[in-house]
Amino acid sequence: MNKSAGKTDGKKKAKAKAAEHVVIVGAGRMGADIAMAFALNGWQCDVVETNARVRARVIKYWDTELRRMRSKAKMRNLNLWAAMQGPGWLKADLVVEVVPEDLELKHKLLKKIEPLVRKKTIIATNTSSLRISDITGVLKHPERGAGFHLGVPAHILLAVEITKGEKTSSKTIEKLTAWTRAMGKVPIVLNRDIPGMLINRLQHAMYREIYHLIDSGVATPHDIDCAVRFGFGFKYSIVGPVFSRDIHGVPVHLATATQIYPTLYNGVEPSATLTRMVKDGHHGVTTGRGFYKWPKATTEKRLEAFATQLGDAFKRIKRVGEPADF
Ligand SMILES: NC(=O)c1ccc[n+]([C@@H]2O[C@H](COP(=O)([O-])OP(=O)(O)OC[C@H]3O[C@@H](n4cnc5c(N)ncnc54)[C@H](O)[C@@H]3O)[C@@H](O)[C@H]2O)c1
Repeated sequence: MNKSAGKTDGKKKAKAKAAEHVVIVGAGRMGADIAMAFALNGWQCDVVETNARVRARVIKYWDTELRRMRSKAKMRNLNLWAAMQGPGWLKADLVVEVVPEDLELKHKLLKKIEPLVRKKTIIATNTSSLRISDITGVLKHPERGAGFHLGVPAHILLAVEITKGEKTSSKTIEKLTAWTRAMGKVPIVLNRDIPGMLINRLQHAMYREIYHLIDSGVATPHDIDCAVRFGFGFKYSIVGPVFSRDIHGVPVHLATATQIYPTLYNGVEPSATLTRMVKDGHHGVTTGRGFYKWPKATTEKRLEAFATQLGDAFKRIKRVGEPADF
């Protein structure tokens, strides 16, 4: 590299650095992966986790997962702290709270965080079900608060739901959107705070019908999985459901919708199957049995294969580009 190129790079780096420090609070199921999502994309990442058992587990998990992804060097971007005194709060451009879904706990935390950070630091929440305004309302400057929701596994999935609370400023949304893009992920902005945001609403609309079909004996869980995987699911990673209606034709869609809507299940209680499974301890991977069996001997390998295939599939999509490029 020649000298002048070095200077330009240096300037660029200095500019980029201003947006490269994040503090993640909570390193449980979601926080551990969210931290990796940032670390993999070059962010300096301070992580606070108060539970010693979780800290020991997360160090091991990062090591295994980053090794699997051949990105072990990215461990250098991750600093794990046992208490709030650890992180470089004044360097943080962004703080993401990922503590359990408990409004009081989140309030206490946000009240502690706000005096520690700079005025321009954005304070985001990864909540799945609480209202963003109800969480960020405790901030002295709620315009800096927003929803920043990543799904499981956060370091692999590309979609990030960015939700505006009642007082969130446009600048906050613009910054979160730009950072999400720079991380190679896909921002999805919600202008209004609605329960479940977009991804959970869409999924649960489908799950309501799925459990109804299982409960009424129309199809087995395996056949339903096959219908989605080898029917429409695979296609949706290339073209979204709305885009694909243009391809198939809107009039035929209207005709089918008119016939099918009156027959769709619209109950407001979770299904009998779901309730029974929870009661019987058939919780899925964690208890060794859910809809399927999860023997200890093979579970880890099956999950690893799933994560690898998902990661490879997303790499292919990234190469193809957005559907609008077609
Ligand atoms: N699990 C999911 O599938 C999922 C998906 C998307 C979003 N979310 C959201 O993410 C958030 C966290 O969920 P989770 O499943 O990771 O929970 P979790 O219980 O697995 O992890 C939360 C972690 O926060 C730690 N913690 C609690 N108080 C703390 C504090 N004051 N400082 C530092 N660490 C603290 C806990 O020790 C725990 O390890 C919730 O708001 C949830 O709604 C969860």
